[in-house]
Amino acid sequence: MGDQQCCVVVLISGNGNNLQALIDASSNSGYTISHVISNNPDAFGLERAQRCGIASTVLNHRDFGTRGEFDSALQQAIDDQNPDLVVLAGFMRILGPEFVKNFSGRMLNIHPSLLPKYPGINTHQRVLDAGDREHGATVHFVTEELDGGPLIAQGRILVNANDTAQELAARVLIREQQLYPTVVTWFASGRLSLQQDRAVMDGAALPREGLQIDS
Ligand code: GRF
Repeated sequence: MGDQQCCVVVLISGNGNNLQALIDASSNSGYTISHVISNNPDAFGLERAQRCGIASTVLNHRDFGTRGEFDSALQQAIDDQNPDLVVLAGFMRILGPEFVKNFSGRMLNIHPSLLPKYPGINTHQRVLDAGDREHGATVHFVTEELDGGPLIAQGRILVNANDTAQELAARVLIREQQLYPTVVTWFASGRLSLQQDRAVMDGAALPREGLQIDS
């Protein structure tokens, strides 16, 4: 990466709220989003990219016979951009271990829970069902384990007694939009890396639960 801008490719499947936050923060953060790839041709995030003059590619997973064929096409599309960092931002496909290994240490994901609690989907309702007092979002390095890679940072919210899953999702999203640009900026400046199975910042291993970022 050197003194060049960190080249980032963002993968989306849906609305692209996280993509938008990353775009909005990119002007003075040391990174440039060079390309957006979506598995969903109808993702509103494609509209966001287009409005901001960012090139995009649609790889509709329904056009591929197997997960492996999709992963191979996706890897080629990413390699064509030769990015320093791949960012999953609302990307809803499970990526195979071969694919993930190729991007070890340079692929991030954001997940709407305080990992390791609630990997997978429907996190907000699961928090309500469990009666948790806290909830939030986590940014982590992507490894073969779904939502299981080394944690980098978390943003927390308090759960109110009469919250609905939708209200939680809206408040978590606000934290996500603060958290992701912060972490991508750390990576772009060379402060953040994956070493063995730990996220490392400024040469020191981060806590297992990641850095806790205040709102
Ligand atoms: C967000 O909750 C994010 O945590 C998860 O996907 C959801 C939608 O993201 N990864 P976006 O609005 O498409 O960025």
